[in-house]
Amino acid sequence: MEKIRIGVVGTGSVVREIYRHLYFSSRYSDSISVEAICDTSAEALTRFGDDWGVPQKRRFSRYEEMIECGGLDAVAVNTPDSLHRAPVVAALEAGLDVVLPKPTADTVQDVHEIIRTVRQTERFLGVDYHKREDPVTKEARARVADGTYGTLQCSVFQMLDKLLVSDPNHDPRFFSSPDFAQKNSPVSFLTSHMADTFMYITGLRPLEVRAVGYRQKLPSLEPIAVTGYDLVDTTVMFEYGVTCHIITGWTLPNTADCLTVQTGRLIFTDGMLDLWENHYGFREVTALGIENRNVLFRNFERDGVVSGYGIDSPGKIIENIGRFRRGEMPDGELESLLSPFSLGLYTTLVCDCAHASLASGVEHERGVVIGAPVETRQFLTETIGNESDLYFA
Ligand SMILES: NC(=O)c1ccc[n+]([C@@H]2O[C@H](COP(=O)([O-])OP(=O)(O)OC[C@H]3O[C@@H](n4cnc5c(N)ncnc54)[C@H](O)[C@@H]3O)[C@@H](O)[C@H]2O)c1
Repeated sequence: MEKIRIGVVGTGSVVREIYRHLYFSSRYSDSISVEAICDTSAEALTRFGDDWGVPQKRRFSRYEEMIECGGLDAVAVNTPDSLHRAPVVAALEAGLDVVLPKPTADTVQDVHEIIRTVRQTERFLGVDYHKREDPVTKEARARVADGTYGTLQCSVFQMLDKLLVSDPNHDPRFFSSPDFAQKNSPVSFLTSHMADTFMYITGLRPLEVRAVGYRQKLPSLEPIAVTGYDLVDTTVMFEYGVTCHIITGWTLPNTADCLTVQTGRLIFTDGMLDLWENHYGFREVTALGIENRNVLFRNFERDGVVSGYGIDSPGKIIENIGRFRRGEMPDGELESLLSPFSLGLYTTLVCDCAHASLASGVEHERGVVIGAPVETRQFLTETIGNESDLYFA
């Protein structure tokens, strides 16, 4: 089978943690050829380029030059959230297909522009919301759809990262961009996962969002303090009055036994569903401490192959790019894969509204910001005008 020739824009932590395994040591690697790379950081470019043998002339500091140089079928855009739109739109307009890590973009305006460009150019885009491939999510989706638990009423989701993720003083630093925690938030980095997972399971659209944010730990860090939220509690009202509290943060002490502590509870008329329950089923005790590893996400096999849903999710997007390019994708499937739900429009809408709620909120003592409710449809209309009808028909 012909390989998909990929240009990689951004070679930071998501590439270190996940995508280098996808590109070079997964069951998808035979159908991927990394033909060019681009990063504004010379250090990141050299590290990745030298590690994986990318020729000097195929290393770029500007994505426009990489795209112009040709020899590509697709582009993997791995830049920070606020820098997704421009390279994605440029790649699509150049006739290339695109794979993105979540979230599609940090603003709903950018997601709308990306979706519009996908439609205009008739290219393929896949967003790696890897939790959609988590077996827990998939099973929950199927059982909720067949009515096992009755009618959904309320739910609570939590996703809490260790402080080492957001702390720019931690050595080694988790994010390549030193100001990642300053420029992003637990909402864009984590709420996006849980909001997407909730909507993937239930198929419900968000109607109203309200957030409460806590800025207490990050501003106290030394020597580099971070002006940003430790924790955000986002309450979302979905269609049919279904509510979901999504609590996310990235300042859990580094002694926590999981890098990401996560849990979800959904309460129905005739049942209740608990997801993850904080642990993943692989607990080890070593001289360094007790650790729970998410081996379903990333699994290192004996032959050097890396598997798991963290790899399958972007891997299937690459496979879909191949099928799309060969004309093997039925229209119905294409329509579903390129729907606003699949392309993360409603997920970014929740996050954007949560940020808007905090931005217009009242700052109380002790760094607590209590946001006002934001109506999603009104927010969308104020942002993109009457084209909001496309998403709330
Ligand atoms: N880190 C993770 O585990 C993880 C998981 C899921 C999704 N994501 C998403 O992946 C994306 C990247 O996050 P990250 O954690 O790798 O961030 P990062 O800061 O570690 O890496 C981003 C890289 O992009 C480069 N960059 C910035 N602007 C650029 C430009 N204009 N052109 C080319 N390169 C540019 C930076 O120099 C850096 O090397 C974000 O959307 C993030 O939300 C990350």
